[in-house]
Amino acid sequence: MAQSSADPYSEFLKWRQSNSYSGLNWQQQIEKYSAKLKADGLEAAELKRTLYVITARDEGTYYDNVYKKGPKFDTTPNRLLVEAVKNRTAGRALDVDMGQGRNAVYLAKNGWQVTGFDVSKAGLDEAQRLAKLARVNIQTILASDEEFNFGVEKWDLIAILYPLEKGSVYRVKQALKTGGLVVVECAHKEAGNQAFEFETNELLKIFEGFRILKYEDTVAMHDWARKEMRMVRLIAEKQ
Ligand SMILES: C[S@@+](CC[C@H](N)C(=O)[O-])C[C@H]1O[C@@H](n2cnc3c(N)ncnc32)[C@H](O)[C@@H]1O
Repeated sequence: MAQSSADPYSEFLKWRQSNSYSGLNWQQQIEKYSAKLKADGLEAAELKRTLYVITARDEGTYYDNVYKKGPKFDTTPNRLLVEAVKNRTAGRALDVDMGQGRNAVYLAKNGWQVTGFDVSKAGLDEAQRLAKLARVNIQTILASDEEFNFGVEKWDLIAILYPLEKGSVYRVKQALKTGGLVVVECAHKEAGNQAFEFETNELLKIFEGFRILKYEDTVAMHDWARKEMRMVRLIAEKQ
């Protein structure tokens, strides 16, 4: 049985270039590549995962431009995160879909040992630049949520702030140490009807069994859109 490659996105880019398919639209590219992988014998679950990773990593090229153009979003550390870590002993923190590092650098400045991942290389480059300016170290990894290895009982804190995917919240339970904290802030599904947004009480269901330190479903300022909308916010501790 054929195996997926270690870096499915690089393989895809090579294939696209060698076949001169760059002129096709994204859907056509994905359909052709999917047919090729099927013909190579990739089984259905692995095919689905590979196409997910390629699509997510390609989203990173969109965010590369966002970070290169200069930020329109709030570049100060997210207020929910600041509140969550106040009076907490610093430990190992994971910043999911970390962007340009506003939150990772804040955590590192406050003594946390931070790892972050994102699909945007420009975002990670900017995060490293900001870390250097602040004279702190952070580890940045170019990966989608599907590729990143969350580990088991590894983190004292997992920050999921304005994520663009929903896979990560389901990995927290296993990845967080007992007593560790998860912090999530995202628009409510009603705000944009996006697949990555959360329904009413959905976060409470996902984190059932956690000690809920704060849960809000309220109209508030969105750090990225910079306008008020219905938001959900959660701070919870793994029991
Ligand atoms: C709205 S930004 C939020 C960034 C950061 N968490 C913050 O609060 O400033 C969303 C980020 O998710 C990244 N992203 C999108 N899909 C992803 C995926 N599947 N895996 C990892 N990162 C992803 C984008 O590149 C972008 O940097």
